[in-house]
Amino acid sequence: MTALVIGGAGYVGSHVVHALLDRGEPVVVVDDLSSGHRETVPAAAHFVQADMADSVRMARVCAEHAVDAALCFAGKIEVGESVKDPRRHWRTNVGGTVALLEGLLDARVPHFVFSSTAAVYGTPEVVPIPDDATERPTNPYGATKLAVERMLGAYADAYPLAYTALRYFNAAGADPARGLGERHDPETHLIPNAIRAALGLRGPLEVFGDDWPTPDGTCVRDYVHVSDLADAHVLALAALRRGECPRAMNLGSTAGSSVNEVIGTVEHLSGKVVPRRYVARRPGDPAVLVAASARATTALGWQPSRSTLDRIVGDALAWHANPLAR
Ligand code: UFG
Repeated sequence: MTALVIGGAGYVGSHVVHALLDRGEPVVVVDDLSSGHRETVPAAAHFVQADMADSVRMARVCAEHAVDAALCFAGKIEVGESVKDPRRHWRTNVGGTVALLEGLLDARVPHFVFSSTAAVYGTPEVVPIPDDATERPTNPYGATKLAVERMLGAYADAYPLAYTALRYFNAAGADPARGLGERHDPETHLIPNAIRAALGLRGPLEVFGDDWPTPDGTCVRDYVHVSDLADAHVLALAALRRGECPRAMNLGSTAGSSVNEVIGTVEHLSGKVVPRRYVARRPGDPAVLVAASARATTALGWQPSRSTLDRIVGDALAWHANPLAR
């Protein structure tokens, strides 16, 4: 049994690769290195530089390594970019995943774990958002992830494929002891941007709106530690292999933090001021996204034990002390 990790040189994928290897799982990483980092792939994993849309190559890699499960992290993730330039999100997230599934089905890979997102819900009717809330994405990023989930549902009904879509809320934090952290180019996410502003590695943080209908006027998000997300993938893979995994699950901490609270935590833990300016709202942002992750708790026994804001920001700060983070 070998796990194929597509996008395994990226932020969440690299943490999952390490978590799988920790449990003795043979791992093959596929990454085109368009945004991933080769040096995060440990020597214990076999590395293939390839595009997931190359279905023939994907089928061959699966056959060569006796792959029984694929986990897909590859894709475009920036909400703002998805609004301004949606075709790249549709091409990569939908087109790329459709092609990947061609290869996986041809190779008869029976298990698939898909990185989905809270963005499938759009503006929630109920907070915390339950696992069975109505999906109404408000931006193309969320729409592309929901489209893939729908495709997977049809495929699993028709073909010998069991899958789960893990709907991440805000992946954050790092594993500084392993040199793993969040390194996007350009970086659009709040916590690394706030840290970089505090350390003088960028200009002032832009806070996107202080007139939201939230207690302090800034957006509220559910930050979940990336190592907790990695645990959930390992548990989901085991559940799929047992034949008892739900098709979609939220992965969040059930706690919401505002942008101002995140900034306060960065300032407190770093002892530095986060220079900032308040600007207009970012198109596509909902005011509040907080998860109820009941299904992951019940079906997987998942507990996001590291997902406090102090632990997340503390680990991210420690990662930023690493020269690789610069
Ligand atoms: N924000 C700022 N300034 C920044 C960056 C972000 O004010 O420089 C604000 C955003 O407006 C938002 C919050 O900080 O209110 C968090 O923004 P992020 O860009 O860090 O994260 P998002 O909530 O936009 O998106 C992330 C992932 C998505 C996922 C979503 C689910 O990138 O893939 O979480 O909650 F869908």
